[in-house]
Amino acid sequence: ALLEPAERPLAGRRIIVTSGPTHEPIDPVRYIANRSSGKQGHAIAAALARLGADVQLVSGPVTIPDPAGVSTTHVESARQMREAVEGLLPADAAIFVAAVADWRTADAAGEKIKKVAGEGPPALQMVENPDILAGIGHHARRPFLVVGFAAETQDVLKNAKAKLDRKGADLIVANDVSHDSGIGPGGVMGGDRNRVRIVSKTGAEEWPELTKDEVAERLAALIAGRLQAIET
Ligand code: CTP
Ligand code: CA
Repeated sequence: ALLEPAERPLAGRRIIVTSGPTHEPIDPVRYIANRSSGKQGHAIAAALARLGADVQLVSGPVTIPDPAGVSTTHVESARQMREAVEGLLPADAAIFVAAVADWRTADAAGEKIKKVAGEGPPALQMVENPDILAGIGHHARRPFLVVGFAAETQDVLKNAKAKLDRKGADLIVANDVSHDSGIGPGGVMGGDRNRVRIVSKTGAEEWPELTKDEVAERLAALIAGRLQAIET
């Protein structure tokens, strides 16, 4: 059923969302990755689309389907993700949910690295990936609203606040991804539930433990409220 205009408060708004992990190649058959499933990012993209937004999702490699009503660009590495995001500007808002690999190998080997008797394991040389959120948070064409996530296993609030400042974000959604976070089977990464705190310059708000879909609904409503302040 079509929603009334009042129920589509994000109509006419363009919103970029990143989701999933990134894969950083070691050689043609191996890569560095992390445990992100894309569930939270994809749920946020879908929730924003249900409120009428033109959602541009940039997804790393995931096994879940593209969300309905969303335009999805598929990428592998952090550098490809950054390029895709920058190519989608300008936007009214950008939500960075992806678990971007912090490091990649300095030079991915062109051929499969072979075991050589007596030589031991290869010493992989690592370099830092670009920070996509920080790049957009300080961009000349910065979206009106920039939202990041913070995956922490300790000092959640303090670390989230530091990320807010460093990356030029308006909001940070902080979650405890430690195995003893109290969130059951599988924890936050890969699981279906999440417990987050919304950190802004003025303080932090704690949400109860919710499904990732419920977190997405609430966050989409919060974003709609923030964007109401600007002209279409
Ligand atoms: N992020 C990003 N590009 C990166 C690293 C992170 O866009 N290269 C974004 C994530 O999508 C998330 C936020 O920055 O919205 C925080 O990611 P997180 O991994 O928690 O923070 P880091 O700055 O990478 O710090 P650390 O992993 O050391 O805690
Ligand atoms: Ca990181």
